[in-house]
Amino acid sequence: MEKVTVKIDGIEVQVDKGTTVLEAAKKINKLIPTFCYHEKLPIFGGCRMCLVYDVKSKRSIIACGTYVYDGMEIETENQQVLNDRKFILEMLFTRHPLDCPICDKAGECDLQNWGTYWGPQNNVLPITPFEKIRPEDDWESDYLEYVSNRCVLCIKCVSVCDNINQSHSLFQLERGFETLISPVIKPMDSSSCEMCGLCVDICPVGAILFKPFKYNARPWLLNETFTHCSLCSLGCPVVIDHDGKKIYRIRSTAELEICAKPYLGYDAYNTNRLKNPKIQGKDVSFDNALEFIGQIISQNPSKTALVVSPYLSNEVLEKINKLGITTTSIITLDLLPLLEGFGDYNPPDFEEIKNAEHYVVIGDDITDTNPVITYYMKKRVVYIGEQLGRIKKLYPNFIQAEGRGIIEKLKENVEEGSVIVYSSYFFGEDAKYLGEVLRKLQEEKNCKVVIVPPYSNGFGIVNNLKRISSFVKTLDKILSGEIENLVMFGEEISLFVEEEKLKEIFSKLKNKVLFTPFDDGLALVCDVVIPLNTWVEEDGNYDFFTGQKKSKTSIKNSFKNTEIIDKILKHINPTSNLIEGFESDFTIPEWINRFKTNIWDASYFSLRSENLTNWKIKNQEVLNER
Ligand code: SF4
Ligand code: SF4
Ligand code: SF4
Ligand code: FES
Repeated sequence: MEKVTVKIDGIEVQVDKGTTVLEAAKKINKLIPTFCYHEKLPIFGGCRMCLVYDVKSKRSIIACGTYVYDGMEIETENQQVLNDRKFILEMLFTRHPLDCPICDKAGECDLQNWGTYWGPQNNVLPITPFEKIRPEDDWESDYLEYVSNRCVLCIKCVSVCDNINQSHSLFQLERGFETLISPVIKPMDSSSCEMCGLCVDICPVGAILFKPFKYNARPWLLNETFTHCSLCSLGCPVVIDHDGKKIYRIRSTAELEICAKPYLGYDAYNTNRLKNPKIQGKDVSFDNALEFIGQIISQNPSKTALVVSPYLSNEVLEKINKLGITTTSIITLDLLPLLEGFGDYNPPDFEEIKNAEHYVVIGDDITDTNPVITYYMKKRVVYIGEQLGRIKKLYPNFIQAEGRGIIEKLKENVEEGSVIVYSSYFFGEDAKYLGEVLRKLQEEKNCKVVIVPPYSNGFGIVNNLKRISSFVKTLDKILSGEIENLVMFGEEISLFVEEEKLKEIFSKLKNKVLFTPFDDGLALVCDVVIPLNTWVEEDGNYDFFTGQKKSKTSIKNSFKNTEIIDKILKHINPTSNLIEGFESDFTIPEWINRFKTNIWDASYFSLRSENLTNWKIKNQEVLNER
């Protein structure tokens, strides 16, 4: 790459040809204020906040949209630049209500910050607050609110929706000073909007508000934890804002990778949490409950089985391994047979996925299962599945098929070098067959195969457990009386087994032990229930689709999942003679519920979110209609 040298405020910096002045300035930590610029969005150049001075051409230029040339000299703080900045801010403040005390964005608002540094320090025009009022636009949403007279018309919200999420849910209404940002369809909750919150997060001022957060907290009073979302296998970088006890919001980082599952679904972690262990509905101490579980396991290790959730961290899975009793998971139904069919699976590099020319998505709609991966699908897309749903935003070539017909259509529609993206749909034998076909297509057509389970740590179970027994056979053993005690980590069993069958299975058990974050649902029908931390309450590594990443603690509970298992281990003598190895379910009985992930109901966490549940009611109707 050809290099050019540019001088910024007297400091020489060498950058690649094609670098903008703003990017070059960042390299030497020069702060140039912006409104409409974001490094992941196309350059718009509309706000002029980033004006700097080009010494050679003797004029002001925009830093965000001007490329450096060799020998360029830039001044970012001379009197003309300061005058330009002040003028732009004067223009904005002329129409902007100074309602910072009641504006949610106060404390993290670019206009407030730039105004403090470079703006006019008094009212420049004799204009009353009433004269500042602009036409309003009601977005008719329970979640997003537009405050028109705070809007600085940077258009980043429209751009992020068009260029990142690609759902094209916003547009500019009217012209000039009367311009408003409006949803393409109202009510907004019934539109193609995916409630990713990116427009809220990227808005430099308080013009788009997240209603559940409104008036709830001041950002400077909250702690922010940078972590990885562990609600699907993508592991997107997100920020959790909390006060140590409660989560107030989960938002995107500068990577702009977030979907509704954490954005709307953050409320699940504040709701109906199990605080104390219980035996037969009565609160007991951790020590008593764990000793009791230890007794159950040690008295009858061969009559006890464990079910592990694919949302547990690697650290917890490693400890569970040591318990040395029959362990199963719902991944034996879908992911495990798929991987068995495929053989040694290594995911392609994320950059290769982003830069592909042709994507073939198969099975369940990836916009529901792993929404953020669709933000990177910007070239030709073929979708082979039962029904064209939310993925229609990518304008795919839709090929309707079901069952193994999807795999046959896949063979016909891949091209040399296609990226094949698969999350879920196939179970048992079908999943294994898909794995075999994918392997062949990878070898023969040089395809890149992207397997992104709808849950976060399916790969972690494969990588960390030494043995996994069949889910179906384990439950069959309960029905035949061979297994009498079931210890469940997480609640997948209630999603993947039909209700009547689950009742029958539970009726055969002597002891139903449940580790769960929630004091409802399955907890109400189990004999022993123990609180479980989720990804927001305990540090843990997860094997996401492109490798291991860490989720970090934001809320600290008084216990740790890993310590709990250590305590159980003290009460048992783990001398397992179980044979190591993985047992997939190739035959799927009728009573297995083929749980289908969608953006609202993705996991036993999401199902607890009031925000997601209410949005589902409004949004489901519209998806069915279109
Ligand atoms: S929430 Fe996301 S999908 Fe909806 S309008 Fe904002 S950016 Fe677009
Ligand atoms: S709503 Fe916010 S992001 Fe959108 S144009 Fe207005 S100021 Fe910019
Ligand atoms: S795509 Fe997956 S990892 Fe990313 S924010 Fe959504 S649920 Fe979380
Ligand atoms: S940030 Fe450069 S023109 Fe808006």
